[in-house]
Amino acid sequence: GVWRGNVEAERIRDEWEICSDDLKIFNQKKLGSGAFCIVFKGKLEGKAPICKIQPSIATQCFENCEVAVKKLPKYADESAKNDFVQEIDFMKRIGYHPHLISILGCITAPQFDPCLIIEYCCNGDLLKYVRNRRLEIVEPMIDDEMALRFKDLLSFAWQISDGMDFLSSKGCIHRDVAARNVLVDENKVAKISDFGLCRLMDTATYTTRGGRLPIKWMAPESLQDYTYTTKSDIWSFGVLLYELFSLGAVPYSWVQPVDMIDYLRSGKRLDKPQHCADNVYEF
Ligand code: ADE
Repeated sequence: GVWRGNVEAERIRDEWEICSDDLKIFNQKKLGSGAFCIVFKGKLEGKAPICKIQPSIATQCFENCEVAVKKLPKYADESAKNDFVQEIDFMKRIGYHPHLISILGCITAPQFDPCLIIEYCCNGDLLKYVRNRRLEIVEPMIDDEMALRFKDLLSFAWQISDGMDFLSSKGCIHRDVAARNVLVDENKVAKISDFGLCRLMDTATYTTRGGRLPIKWMAPESLQDYTYTTKSDIWSFGVLLYELFSLGAVPYSWVQPVDMIDYLRSGKRLDKPQHCADNVYEF
């Protein structure tokens, strides 16, 4: 078992590995950074490994394309490195889906800094995207324009739910579903990203402690005893819907994070955001 497992791991590593000469990283062009990673814009020469590994999607052009390159910060410790390797492994296994950010390739050879190469989404994250559109609403708007805006929001909501359905069908719990972790590509297609906290369901639930917690996106059972399931992902999706239809409002902006457990226990919930139709809220 162990022997075959190693062979399998090697094989997967070979196929996804790109030659570092084929990757240009624009170090000045930081797309984002968190406590655990930095994302740069880059350009990949030639065909991305995913074209060979999943030829069914080769219709999409992942050749000589712009990419996003995720790297660890210089000061990353052993546990951050282990998490990063796990995230890369996770993305290799999950497979391509139009509503999930896909791995295109990676560099894990020991002589280089590890790099995860993913799809580049020129419209950035969904939270900033809807917040930017909020400024446009100041102008008087005709009904047609409002309808179009609403159609976009509903379309994002469906695409994200479709990506989440795929994740759960693969036995994955995302644990950080939020508008900041969804990216929007050039065709206004929403893709779930940031699989850093993603875990496979070994049992019915997954329990964890510590780390930074997205308190206001967490289900009551996750707040109470750090239990995560597909259902707690769906709770977070509900909070994401509030962000979406409020064009990027902070959820429960009137509640301190420490008070969230009591707030939810008392039965209080998010109200219908301004741009949400009654039938969508009720559904
Ligand atoms: N910011 C973080 N990841 C990104 C990506 N894949 N595309 C564009 N912006 C990003």
